[in-house]
Amino acid sequence: MCGIFGFVGNTDRPTSVVVEGLKDLEYRGYDSWGVAVAAGGGVLSEKQTGKIGDAVSSLPPASASLGHTRWATHGAVTQQNAHPHLDCSGRLAVIHNGIVENHDAIRGRLQRHQFRSETDTEVVVHLLEEEMAGTAANGRSRLVTGLMSGFRQLEGLSAIAVLDGESGEIAAAKNGSPLVVGLSEEGSYLASDPVALLPHTRKLLFVEDGQAVSLDPSGTARVFEVGSGREIEPQVREVDWPVHDRTLGPFDHYMEKEINEQPAVLRRLAAEKSDDVSTLARMIEESSRVFITGCGTANNAGMAGQYLMSRIAGRQVTAVMASEMRLAGPLLDPTSLVIALSQSGETIDVLDAARLAQSRGARVAALTNSEGSSLYRLADHSILLDCGPERCVLATKTYTAKLALLVMTAYQLAGRAEEGVHAVVQGALLMEALLVEERDRGNIERLAERLADSDHIFVLGRDINYPLALEAALKIKEVSYIHAEGFASGELKHGVIALIEPGTPCIVLATEPSVLRETLAGTAEVRARGAFTVGLSPDPHPEFEAHLPMRGGGEAVLFEAAAAFQSLAYRLALRLERDPDKPRNLAKSVTVR
Ligand code: AGP
Repeated sequence: MCGIFGFVGNTDRPTSVVVEGLKDLEYRGYDSWGVAVAAGGGVLSEKQTGKIGDAVSSLPPASASLGHTRWATHGAVTQQNAHPHLDCSGRLAVIHNGIVENHDAIRGRLQRHQFRSETDTEVVVHLLEEEMAGTAANGRSRLVTGLMSGFRQLEGLSAIAVLDGESGEIAAAKNGSPLVVGLSEEGSYLASDPVALLPHTRKLLFVEDGQAVSLDPSGTARVFEVGSGREIEPQVREVDWPVHDRTLGPFDHYMEKEINEQPAVLRRLAAEKSDDVSTLARMIEESSRVFITGCGTANNAGMAGQYLMSRIAGRQVTAVMASEMRLAGPLLDPTSLVIALSQSGETIDVLDAARLAQSRGARVAALTNSEGSSLYRLADHSILLDCGPERCVLATKTYTAKLALLVMTAYQLAGRAEEGVHAVVQGALLMEALLVEERDRGNIERLAERLADSDHIFVLGRDINYPLALEAALKIKEVSYIHAEGFASGELKHGVIALIEPGTPCIVLATEPSVLRETLAGTAEVRARGAFTVGLSPDPHPEFEAHLPMRGGGEAVLFEAAAAFQSLAYRLALRLERDPDKPRNLAKSVTVR
């Protein structure tokens, strides 16, 4: 949540350096954005509400500049509340990712300062103003000394970056929220995600919790422990990560592009991940208790994993959503394993769950799309999803990548590894065929037209289709804003059926032959109450008023069904004129609790 990008160099550079960096980070929040530059012994700043889009900054070139994209926590989405926030004299500019939980108390102590926003962040810049006034430099710059002293007073999880217009220096400190420094011949960069640094440099320094950094224009950085103020040796890494193609190509939106990339992702995982899959299967085998955890879509993938491990490998793996991991806490010990799923590798609830596991001696295996992320670094074994960047805020290809790895792991555990690979390869073929058929025939497009005016959509599934129903409903509501809920179809008559009215759409995932009879019975029950029923199944049935044919079987059909409901969600968004890539209120990386 919130993107931070900064640059310090020996020569003036246009603010497009920062603006382009912010565009790479906009997935983290897009309520508003702002930039500040060092100029004439102070800072000049500019901020605007809305997405950064094709914006161009009107600020002059500068040797030090800092920018931010916001996901609002405290204070409405207004120009005043956008970052950066300036001190009273216009010397300092602060940007922030996270929450200052004790902002009220700090604000109370800073009565003589002039506050201009409703944000928790603004207290930081006035606090720094105080701290810098009273701080001796002690061999470090006044800025970094003041920052550390101020940062020690903040409660909550935050990454703070500050630009001193007088010295042209940038310093930053973090606890909980991600920050990476990039070092190059042009100078030093700072960002919330290495993805924004890779176009400039491969020399990265991951700032750890409780550390502060000061960026040097010569392309170096000094690192300090915030607690003690002690300077420590910077741990610089040279990475060889690829810079992926980030253009839309022939597609209108990243969501469409990323849905269409799934067959290639699945083939890559099937071909390249056998070692990782064997390691994960071995870790499961060696553990007395296994939990699988994540948030949102990753949690839905984890729930699917629970079913897959049971039905394919006869192995108990318990899915717990990361924010509820305390449930598992007392059960964790050194013989336990927690499998943490997170596309970004920065979701705070997932990191909390992983740290809880490690604090109890349990091992952590991670499935993440972000090499170098906090989760990637802290896990005992990390498996990369290798999806390439997922720029749409909605998770699509990273969801099916997790499913693919879990299918392969379950088959590996069962001693039938080839079947897992086969299911994933078949899944890729089925997805491809569905996407081609959609382009030719528009079945899903017609369904979207029929459903777009609905107030509510229910998605029903039984057995392995139940976690898929949850994910289908999440995709629909995130991107179309239509209220959608996924249910276990057997549970429906125990309460939820009260919500069914004539015309209520019920999408039924009926790909699983072993529970088809019960699934159809559940469909008949809602139909009898007037629901408009849509079946995703191999064959049409009289209970389905509309039918999307699913051609696959086994686990391969799960990927086909996922492509169908993802495409439906996308088409609903287009019909309703929503922005599929940046839906309202969401951010791709949720780093606050
Ligand atoms: C997915 O479409 C969502 N935007 C959201 O539920 C997401 O899956 C969740 O926030 C977890 O993110 P992570 O995978 O980066 O941890």
